[in-house]
Formats: sequence, structure tokens, C-alpha cells
Amino acid sequence: MKYRRLGKTELKVSVVGVGTWQFGGDWGKDFSQKEVDGILTHAKGLGINLIDTAECYGPHHMSEAFIGDFLTRDRREDWVVASKFGHKFQESWSNAWHADEVRVQLEESLRALKTDYLDLYQFHSGSDEDFVNDALWTMLDKQVQAGKIRNLGISIGSNDNLVQTARATEFNAKAIQVVYNRINQIPEQQIFPSCLEQDLGVLARVPLASGYLSGKYKPGVTFEDRVRKGHARHEIDEKLKLVELIQQNEVPQDVGMAQWALAWCLQHPAVSCVIPGCKSIEQVEANAQAASLDLVKDEHPSAWN
Ligand SMILES: NC(=O)c1ccc[n+]([C@@H]2O[C@H](COP(=O)([O-])OP(=O)(O)OC[C@H]3O[C@@H](n4cnc5c(N)ncnc54)[C@H](OP(=O)(O)O)[C@@H]3O)[C@@H](O)[C@H]2O)c1
Repeated sequence: MKYRRLGKTELKVSVVGVGTWQFGGDWGKDFSQKEVDGILTHAKGLGINLIDTAECYGPHHMSEAFIGDFLTRDRREDWVVASKFGHKFQESWSNAWHADEVRVQLEESLRALKTDYLDLYQFHSGSDEDFVNDALWTMLDKQVQAGKIRNLGISIGSNDNLVQTARATEFNAKAIQVVYNRINQIPEQQIFPSCLEQDLGVLARVPLASGYLSGKYKPGVTFEDRVRKGHARHEIDEKLKLVELIQQNEVPQDVGMAQWALAWCLQHPAVSCVIPGCKSIEQVEANAQAASLDLVKDEHPSAWN
């Protein structure tokens, strides 16, 4: 594994993390605690130390609760735990951006994760109106002072959201999470330059383009999971045709496409880590191997020495 500094935070993160939206059940598979334990135990054995989760990955903090249960049997301090705020998900899903609601969510996330602090607490892809809210960020700063949050971050919804990215430092946020992958390079235009200028950490999310960049799907494929069932037919096929071309022209024959796609993201000087969503031990193992591909240079600006 390789490690990088997450911007101006004190955190040393593995270049490959584990995305855990999957644990909430939206990706066509319900997880057991045993399966989550297997994934996270293997991740740790491979040197992965970063877990990305959220308040609304499954009802009643489901993803966080699986991770929390695992953490009671592991060393909490070995992990960088990143979660998010801004939504309620009980029987159904709703926005909850008021400072009082977010303070309650923080307590609920800490309880579910069975920890007394979060390493990174991210604004979860809200609107600019929800974002520019002094009362919210003042409340969050108090939680930082109280030691419940080590660092604040912003997971931007649209991957060209310069309003939120450019104001990160003003609101004491030290990391940006953004969609970035070989077929969606928009952050390179304005977001990454702003992150570099402010020394913000960058978590590249959806690095496998929702799995399309794994190379295992062909145009015409149909999906039953709640996430990809919602993607437009023509967009899926356009992406998969592009993936076929990329595979033929860019991916070395002896390298797995998923690993290559993750390593591709890690080349950019602004990117600290990728957080591919994982559904099995095999996927974690394949994804961790991205760190050893030649594309991931030792002399990256954030390389941890
Ligand atoms: N707004 C936000 O803040 C936000 C939004 C989205 C995601 N996220 C975070 O980012 C993480 C990653 O994004 P994502 O999960 O949406 O997309 P992704 O990482 O691009 O794709 C994940 C999917 O790719 C497939 N996959 C993973 N590893 C593979 C491998 N080695 N070989 C083949 N297939 C593989 C799996 O699905 P199949 O096996 O079923 O194909 C998996 O569910 C999430 O888990 C979450 O933590 C945050």
C-alpha cells in the first residue's frame, strides 16, 4: 500500500480506501456483519486504513452500524473514519441541514460507529443554499473544539461546484470529496486547481464510474440494484462503449481494468486517495493492488514520507 497526506489535515490515508455505500443495501446485495467484517479485515491486512461512510447509507445508519460493530473488535485508532451529514434516513430519506438536526445526526453517527470521534465529517452533497449557513459551520466548529470531529470536509454534489470548493478554507473544511474517474474528468478544470491552491485533501469517489470501469459489463447489460437501475439506458451504453475503447487502447494486457482505473485517478497531483465501493473480499483485494501499479508514482506531491 502507499499512503498520502490528506491535504492540510494530520491524516495519513492509504491511497485506496473502502467506500461503504454498498453496506446500506442499495447495490443489489444485503450484507451480514460477517461479510462486512471479512471485507474490513482483509482491507486492513492489505494496508487500507480509510473507510468512507455516511449517515444515509441504508436506513437507521446501517452502513455506519456495520462498521461500528467491526470497530469494537478492532483498533479504532488504526482507521481513518470518514462520514457525512445532511440527511435523515429512517423509513424514508429526507434532507436535514439545520444546525440542530446535524448536531443530532453527529451524535447518532458516533453512536452507530461506536466511537467518540470522526476523523473526517463531510457536508453530504447539499445545495449552495444549504452550504452557506454560518450557524451550521459554527456548530460544527464547536464539535471540532470538543474533539468529536477531527476534520471537516465537503462532498460536493456536482463535480464542478466551485462555490463550495473555493470557500472550503473559509469554513474550516480541509478535504473535498468529488466524482472523478477516467470517463468523468471535469474536476481537473476548476476543482483540482482550487484544492491544490488551498492544500485540500481530495477523495476521488465513484472512481470505477459505478462499476462500469471494471471492464466486466458490456453494452446492453441490465441492472437490478437501486443505484444503476436509475441510470438512463443510453448513458449506460455510451459509457460501456467508451470503456471498451479505453480497455483496448489504454489498459496494459496484464493489468485488471478496475485496478488500472483506480491507479489512473491516483496520477493526478491533487488526488489524495480513491474510495471504490466494495461488495466482496475479492473486490477489496483487486482494488488494493492499484497502489502497486506503475501509474501510482512514489513522488506524488502528497506522498507520505
Ligand atoms: N455524494 C457522496 O458523497 C457520494 C456519492 C456516491 C458515492 N460516495 C462514496 O464513494 C464510494 C464509491 O462510489 P460508488 O460506490 O458509487 O462507485 P464506484 O466505486 O465507482 O463503483 C462501485 C461498484 O463497482 C463494482 N466494483 C468494485 N470493485 C470492483 C472490482 N475490483 N472489480 C469489479 N467490480 C468492482 C461493485 O459493483 P458490482 O460488483 O455490482 O458491479 C461496486 O459496487 C461509495 O461507496 C461511497 O462511500 C459518496
